[in-house]
Amino acid sequence: MIASAAAFLSGLWHRQDALPDSGAAAPGGSAFARQRSDHRSATDGIYVEWSPKTLSRLLAEELPGVEIIVVSNREPYIHNRADDGTIALQLPASGLVSALEPVMRSCGGTWIAQGSGSADRDTVDEHDRLSVPPANPEYTLRRVWLSEEEIDGHYYGFSNEGLWPLCHTAFVRPLFRADDWEAYRAVNQKFADVVVAEAGREDPIILVQDYHFALLPRMIRNALPKATIITFWHIPWPNGETFGICPWREEIIDGLLGSTVLGFHTRQHCNNFIDSTDRFMESRIDREHGSVTLRGRETLIRPYPISIEWPPAALATQGTIASCRRAVRARLGLADDMRIAVGIERFDYTKGILDRMAAVHDLLTQHPEWKERVVFVQAAAPSRTKLGAYEKLQSDAIRLADAINAAHGTADWKPIHLVIRHHDQREVYELFRAADVCVVSSLHDGMNLVAKEFVASRDDERGVLVLSSFAGAARELSEALIVNPYDTRAMADVFAAALRMPETEQRDRLRLMRDVVRQRNVYRWAAQMLIDAARIRRRETIQALSSED
Ligand code: G6P
Repeated sequence: MIASAAAFLSGLWHRQDALPDSGAAAPGGSAFARQRSDHRSATDGIYVEWSPKTLSRLLAEELPGVEIIVVSNREPYIHNRADDGTIALQLPASGLVSALEPVMRSCGGTWIAQGSGSADRDTVDEHDRLSVPPANPEYTLRRVWLSEEEIDGHYYGFSNEGLWPLCHTAFVRPLFRADDWEAYRAVNQKFADVVVAEAGREDPIILVQDYHFALLPRMIRNALPKATIITFWHIPWPNGETFGICPWREEIIDGLLGSTVLGFHTRQHCNNFIDSTDRFMESRIDREHGSVTLRGRETLIRPYPISIEWPPAALATQGTIASCRRAVRARLGLADDMRIAVGIERFDYTKGILDRMAAVHDLLTQHPEWKERVVFVQAAAPSRTKLGAYEKLQSDAIRLADAINAAHGTADWKPIHLVIRHHDQREVYELFRAADVCVVSSLHDGMNLVAKEFVASRDDERGVLVLSSFAGAARELSEALIVNPYDTRAMADVFAAALRMPETEQRDRLRLMRDVVRQRNVYRWAAQMLIDAARIRRRETIQALSSED
């Protein structure tokens, strides 16, 4: 193994400028992980150019024959029946899906998720499976069917009216209903049963995704004690005092501590989880190594900053920057010299869409020289519309956009273009490439991949990213113009500075950010977790052998 890992490493390692390490690759353990960290500390400037190829090689070298199972609520491919009876394929607007899908294409395995499309049942085999991507299959999607009641309680109720507002500091009150909690528990058990049924061996690597499945790791652990369970929490984790208002806080922490490794985007979220555990659970906490031991079993708590594929697939089909600009201007009826600022996301109250529009109002009030010279295009995908908070946000946003357009607009110009519909990746990248400024002003966000996608889309090294300091991405993309999204007046000044920024400065900032996104891409995110998993599995094998002696 050492020989093969050495060969593997010699093919992978390159000298490059060092980036700050997330701390995810701990020293010691497997030959790969050990050599990797030795190289890093010895030379302080070596890194792997992570790609689908290097990720597959990592699996082959370090985890030969391993079975990979992913579990998430949202599925990567949705089949819907159109009015004319044909079946249309939809790729959902989900940061989780856009990050994980390229990883699964490279690793293979089974992705278990809820079947949510109107034609989903018509496109699976008798085992509820299908091979995806449909045009060029590389892994298996196993769909799980939930009843309306299960979706109401698990997805809308506890996940999105309880945990979502609890974990995001956006000042929307979490709602905790006992019936929702029961549904949440039952749906987690349903998925645990499917995981066990799909597992072909007793020790698969199971990647549990997000806040829909806090109880799943413990349930899987009970059924498959030898599984390596890597859970990734894609949203923030609040501080202990805030988390403490959840009536089922102990069960949630206990469920997550069924994991072998529990990952968050940032060190801060890890610390918040450890503090919450310290407050509410009898456990042994090792802050130095970032681990919690509950009832004799240790869980590593690690930051793994998520990212996007590099280069992004959607970029391959894009035209030149000039043609993207022409297309967007023609679609929106804009003059050739009109400057364009964009915001693109799900219609979610955590994204700060209203504050961003208010900042456009402040820009036009405080800096009237921008009247009739700039438009703000807000592309918003309807999301969780059954919930009151989301419905209200949508109607508030329409009203605010109308009011700002009425206050500042003219017969030929309206400052805000609010486009409420799903945009596919091709359209999203076209908008990014047409933009002078991209605004990501989330009130709170685990990472925010829109910011990284914008950076990746600008191979011309032009454009300015305005980024909330409360998005995890702000830790890595420090050359963005960082804003407090609650301070609309200051944000307006930053918009004006972005619109005035010289091209050389745009290039210098984007170059640095593009290096970060290229190097810290999603294959690296997955590799860091798999390297940790390989190390733990090897250690467990050694422990099992020595206990037999
Ligand atoms: C966030 C969550 C994901 C979720 C996505 C879209 O990114 O972390 O788990 O898939 O939002 O939300 P939806 O409710 O449509 O799946």
